[in-house]
Amino acid sequence: MVLLALFLGFVATVTATAAVQPFRIDLAKGLPHLEALVKNTNLPSEPLYPGAGEDFGVQLDFLHDLKTQWVEGYDWTEQEAELNQLAQYTTIIGNQTVHFVHEKSDDEDAIPLLLIHGWPGSIQEFLPVIKPLTQSWTSPTGKNVSYNVVVPSLPGFLFSSPPPQNWTNLETARLFNTLMTDVLGYPKYALHGTDWGSDIGYHMYESFNTTVRAAHFVFLPFQPPSPQEIADKNITLSDVQKIALQRTVDWLATDQGYFQEQTFKRFNSLGLTNNIILQPNDIGLALYDNPVGQLAWIGGSTKLWSDPRAGTGPSKLTHTAILTSVSLYYLTGSFQSSVWQYARNGGAFRTEYTKPPTDAPMLYSIYAYNIVMFPEEYVEKVGNLVSYKEHDFGGHFAGLDNPPALIEDIREMGLYFK
Ligand SMILES: *[C@@H]1O[C@H](CO)[C@@H](O)[C@H](O)[C@H]1NC(C)=O
Ligand SMILES: *[C@@H]1O[C@H](CO)[C@@H](O)[C@H](O)[C@H]1NC(C)=O
Ligand SMILES: *[C@@H]1O[C@H](CO)[C@@H](O)[C@H](O)[C@H]1NC(C)=O
Ligand SMILES: *[C@@H]1O[C@H](CO)[C@@H](O)[C@H](O)[C@H]1NC(C)=O
Ligand SMILES: *[C@@H]1O[C@H](CO)[C@@H](O)[C@H](O)[C@H]1NC(C)=O
Repeated sequence: MVLLALFLGFVATVTATAAVQPFRIDLAKGLPHLEALVKNTNLPSEPLYPGAGEDFGVQLDFLHDLKTQWVEGYDWTEQEAELNQLAQYTTIIGNQTVHFVHEKSDDEDAIPLLLIHGWPGSIQEFLPVIKPLTQSWTSPTGKNVSYNVVVPSLPGFLFSSPPPQNWTNLETARLFNTLMTDVLGYPKYALHGTDWGSDIGYHMYESFNTTVRAAHFVFLPFQPPSPQEIADKNITLSDVQKIALQRTVDWLATDQGYFQEQTFKRFNSLGLTNNIILQPNDIGLALYDNPVGQLAWIGGSTKLWSDPRAGTGPSKLTHTAILTSVSLYYLTGSFQSSVWQYARNGGAFRTEYTKPPTDAPMLYSIYAYNIVMFPEEYVEKVGNLVSYKEHDFGGHFAGLDNPPALIEDIREMGLYFK
């Protein structure tokens, strides 16, 4: 018996440390069904009310263009091959399968870096920045910075298994800290978070002060100040901040429908006091086997939240990228579990601006066309702010919207990592 117990103990130890499996995306099996559905989905030929703009939802001509491209000019296999150029793995933590990219630098002193996406996002959002960040960059002061880059799929997204019903971002924060430390063996690391990833990353920044040793955000889980509050505090805004503030006002005023639909309970913290109860399963199941429907829901938001110049200049947020984003959700059957992210985290936007118990540096960047703007005077209340930068190009999806700028921001973080 003792021997058997010892043996079982040995097996348990081995499985706990050897539980990382190489992974490749292979979604070819679902492709014929997807293609048939897209081809056979009818859209109206003319808009019902031609003057009704984006405040009323996704634009028909945009949807027609993307649908046509999906049928005639889009090659999933090519996109899948590009994603598979990233080294990917799965592991099991607790009861959950966690899928992640792990691209290592050739440099021995590369800094471990966790990139955390949101909704509608995935590992794809960081495709243009992952490999460049593994390469060595020499700062003007002669310091070399490179990263070992880890990009997990959030629980319930793509190949990461759906979490229990009441699973919160704080639990995802613990899961990702376990991934970095216990599974991958990095005693300390830096992180970048956007959208829901900024809430998860902020929990990590405040809860794991010995392991998270620098953090960069482009979004924060706080209620953004109103133009009136900013004016009352006599804060002078730059041109980039003015654009971003107008975007914030617009987003809060006209673009909360998706948020409410995907959230299950009264959601007050954005100042939306009269909301009714909504159901993530309605949208989750209505669009579960409806790729053009997912395209309208995800593609419409993606377009609205990115720079109006998306797809030009430094932007990699092309129509092809939008189709790949939607294809990933559709082909992995994870649309429904991804929208539950909202239902499980109602009330994530904090109203109290307080400093968390950490001495790790924090960096923040504004992308002019992001959907929420925080002035420096606010950001410095919630962390050890060492850098506040502004980019006049880019929106909510910095990794696709302006990858050179995000690479620059994250490399700068390396100078503060300790
Ligand atoms: C795993 O799932 C089982 C059965 O649902 C549950 O009893 C157990 O507490 C779960 N473990 C963890 C670590 O969540
Ligand atoms: C930075 O990298 C370059 C090229 O590999 C090397 O020559 C230089 O010594 C490095 N600098 C530092 C400070 O390590
Ligand atoms: C989830 O939380 C809600 C609200 O606290 C509770 O009513 C429900 O029973 C929980 N569901 C599960 C599956 O734990
Ligand atoms: C803003 O400026 C006005 C006019 O100079 C002044 O009365 C007010 O006290 C200032 N408010 C703050 C918060 O500094
Ligand atoms: C890290 O967090 C612990 C627990 O909250 C706290 O006691 C400690 O002071 C923190 N360290 C720093 C440097 O803030």
